[in-house]
Amino acid sequence: MHISQIIAILTFVTLAIPTAARNAKCTNSLALDGVYIVGDVDMGGNPLTHFDAPQISAFNASAIEDWSFDGVSHDGTAGMSFFFSRGNVVGHYAGQRLFLSVVWPNGTRYMESVFVKRSSVRQCQHSTTANWLDDTAGVNWTFTSSIDYRNTVVAIDSPTVQGTYTIKALTPAVYPNGLEYPSADGDPLFAPELYWEENVPVGTVDANLSILGTPFVLSGYGGREKNWNSRAWADISANWDMIRATVGPFAFVAWRYKSQVDQNTYLSMVLFKNGQVIFRTSRLDDSDGKTYGSVTLTNTGLVNLASAPDSRLQLPESRFTGYILDFVSPETRLHWRFAVDFTRTVYWFPASSALRIGGFVGNVTGGLVGGKLYTGLASGSAQELVI
Ligand SMILES: *[C@@H]1O[C@H](CO)[C@@H](O)[C@H](O)[C@H]1NC(C)=O
Ligand SMILES: *[C@@H]1O[C@H](CO)[C@@H](O)[C@H](O)[C@H]1NC(C)=O
Ligand SMILES: *[C@@H]1O[C@H](CO)[C@@H](O)[C@H](O)[C@H]1NC(C)=O
Ligand SMILES: *[C@@H]1O[C@H](CO)[C@@H](O)[C@H](O)[C@H]1NC(C)=O
Ligand SMILES: *[C@@H]1O[C@H](CO)[C@@H](O)[C@H](O)[C@H]1NC(C)=O
Repeated sequence: MHISQIIAILTFVTLAIPTAARNAKCTNSLALDGVYIVGDVDMGGNPLTHFDAPQISAFNASAIEDWSFDGVSHDGTAGMSFFFSRGNVVGHYAGQRLFLSVVWPNGTRYMESVFVKRSSVRQCQHSTTANWLDDTAGVNWTFTSSIDYRNTVVAIDSPTVQGTYTIKALTPAVYPNGLEYPSADGDPLFAPELYWEENVPVGTVDANLSILGTPFVLSGYGGREKNWNSRAWADISANWDMIRATVGPFAFVAWRYKSQVDQNTYLSMVLFKNGQVIFRTSRLDDSDGKTYGSVTLTNTGLVNLASAPDSRLQLPESRFTGYILDFVSPETRLHWRFAVDFTRTVYWFPASSALRIGGFVGNVTGGLVGGKLYTGLASGSAQELVI
């Protein structure tokens, strides 16, 4: 065996390093830029694995794992979205990628995508610390999260961006089937080849960044999640609408997703009231008399997802401006309805020749049908199939 293969094998393996430290048993998962194997990799998927822990410990030329974060300001005019990724990013195999996009209140945007040399995710008894690092380029992004997901701090230090983002959970971590972590009945496999966990469905967000010397300060709401897929997003997904919101005593997270693998549509909707799950469904219709839900595109709002005014690539705008979400429980005869209107595009770019992917923030109105109407804020992402 060639020495480079041996080195490669050593670095593929998740390095489980039991430390002798007082009470503390930590594990560290290290991944290096460009280090991948040929063939199938283990996709994990054990529901009892902590949501911040890596599920993929060795990467091939297609698998990817993302830790994603977002935020919307209290007035709905500023938004942000960022991801820490490992794996195949547009043909960059075993990329250690950092993506950030923000929109200021006046609509000005900033977006960057950088590849670093290595990433590590270290889990100890009380916290997780993830670090994406390129010390030569001076890029160091870190997130530290309490094991109960309640408190997360992201520190960004790079030549372009410096500052922090914090998120404090208002809701428990949930699986796509709406069960709360930890549960042996939780199922992270949402659709073919697509795994998903909501570490923080909704939380309060405070960010304070300096971007190319310009302050970006956001105080509001947001959430964070984890995805891991055996192949690239553009290869497994057709279209989707993923929305999280906080509105009066309610909060929700919803994802309607059409798979390119089997052409079926998958749904996950979880509704919280005062931080407790009060409704969950994966059903798109009421055929069995159980809970169901729907996410309907609307085009009556003022904002379509669009390219930044200063972007060289000017894509056609999204054909929709928001959503109506229905959460229906025939058994209890309760029906909640919320309308989301986009207020800003956070990003809008091509995912393939047939797909556009967007990040948005918006405002929300709704509540129990026939009850008090509340207003609130939303953030999320959408993929539009344009053929
Ligand atoms: C990578 O591994 C996944 C999961 O086993 C598999 O589905 C996929 O086809 C593999 N990709 C390549 C390029 O071998
Ligand atoms: C919009 O706001 C940003 C951030 O404060 C600022 O840098 C930029 O100059 C503003 N643009 C316009 C056109 O006012
Ligand atoms: C990266 O940033 C984290 C968080 O601020 C810090 O603890 C760590 O020492 C930094 N690492 C390097 C190599 O600069
Ligand atoms: C943001 O960070 C800068 C630099 O650390 C600090 O001077 C400023 O007071 C902070 N702003 C807020 C709103 O926290
Ligand atoms: C929601 O956003 C739309 C579009 O920007 C705006 O017209 C509307 O006034 C906003 N509603 C609230 C309640 O802020």
